[in-house]
Amino acid sequence: MEQTLDFIKTNEKRFLDELFDLLRIPSVSADGKYKNDVARACQFVADKLKAAGADNVEICPTKGHPIVYGEKLINPALPTVIVYGHYDVQPADPENLWTTPPFEPQIRDGKIYARGSCDDKGQVYMHIKAFESMMKTNTLACNVRFMIEGEEEVGSDNLGTFVKENKDRLKGDVILISDTSMVANDTPSIEVGLRGLSYVQVEVTGPNHDLHSGVYGGAVGNPIQILCEMIASMKDKNNHITIPGFYDDVLELTKEERTELNKTPFSEADYKKELGVDELVGETGYTALERTGIRPTFELNGIWGGYTGEGSKTVLPSKAFAKISMRLVPNQKSDKATELFTKHFKSIAPKTVKVKVTPFHGGEPVVTPTDSVAFKAASMAIEKTFGKKPIPTRGGGSIPIVALFEQELGLKSVLMGFGLDSDLIHSPNEHYGVFNFMKGIETIPLFFKYFAELSKR
Ligand code: BES
Ligand code: MN
Ligand code: MN
Repeated sequence: MEQTLDFIKTNEKRFLDELFDLLRIPSVSADGKYKNDVARACQFVADKLKAAGADNVEICPTKGHPIVYGEKLINPALPTVIVYGHYDVQPADPENLWTTPPFEPQIRDGKIYARGSCDDKGQVYMHIKAFESMMKTNTLACNVRFMIEGEEEVGSDNLGTFVKENKDRLKGDVILISDTSMVANDTPSIEVGLRGLSYVQVEVTGPNHDLHSGVYGGAVGNPIQILCEMIASMKDKNNHITIPGFYDDVLELTKEERTELNKTPFSEADYKKELGVDELVGETGYTALERTGIRPTFELNGIWGGYTGEGSKTVLPSKAFAKISMRLVPNQKSDKATELFTKHFKSIAPKTVKVKVTPFHGGEPVVTPTDSVAFKAASMAIEKTFGKKPIPTRGGGSIPIVALFEQELGLKSVLMGFGLDSDLIHSPNEHYGVFNFMKGIETIPLFFKYFAELSKR
């Protein structure tokens, strides 16, 4: 492993240069105008995997954006690790809030600033370079299969079909994913839970066309006002979501589990300072760590209607819209949450409007094991490179495919992520520490080594 580490250190500059090339490609999966760029990023990943020594590298088309597959099967007696990640990124807007342009990566203060630097191109690229390093120094300790997709940020709608149709190519022992965060660089951690998701768009229609707000205002229901009132009623004074039945399936943690979870280092003062807020808010009776880790939520992601351009326009609009995400926790089901929401939202609409609910994507919550060989291997690898044993944490984000891997392939995942919550993923000025990038590349070969060793016994 010494040799591998040497190789990694010697090649740091080239690794970063290559990552920068990938970061320059605006592979925004949500926006059709970037379709070619998404395809270019896919090709880039495929080329680099091949150059690193992967066999049978293939760009697999889907109904949406393509998936890169590649493998190196060295010995059937060795365990097989399936590496999953995504090369697509979130939209960069609002672009004017970036200090430097989102697709012109720059290192400032030891951090790589670019859309996708942390989520997830930087973390995917660690795997490709760790693989190259193991190949070059003849230290690859497991068989490996790569599956890098281009639709994670839009719900992985087509990955399910790919998984179902490619069960042979996806035979393995564990899924290894670097697409989550750690508590801090001096407090390494491994996420052992992800929340599920139900994402919907609502449309509230009042009059059948826009009206003069003076001529009609006062007599006709304003859909923006009504939408706001409906949304305001979705939480009670304890910030409990008011959808009937919403909490029915929520798995309550035991007192012991909650005590354990709240041992995660967390400074409320620092948290507030970092976000520029004077006060936190959330469901009564739960800590911030619990509110983001083990409790479901209801969040508005966008709301619009009427006139929002420059100056003023006196209009009573015909329609108002909102995008809403509900994070779900173990035992809740995405389809059921969507159904409960839809039924409730329609039931609270006054007769002055019509309501349409369009479900977007969803995903199921997961908890990953901490007593598995793979978790132990990840824990040992991180302890070796960070000098501290990682603590298990519950993440608030979602990776819809993790539950599906379990369901379709019977495989558990290890969420060996190297980001930080403060890396501003999905926000302007997303960044990723060069330290984290390099630590990741050093840690991955150790995971392979320990996983092979521990699997033998
Ligand atoms: N990598 C994130 C998920 C994540 C981030 C998990 C940090 C834990 C810690 C992923 O790319 C993501 O953003 N997922 C989306 C889900 C999707 C269906 C759009 C999310 O969580 O909003
Ligand atoms: Mn991600
Ligand atoms: Mn993301």
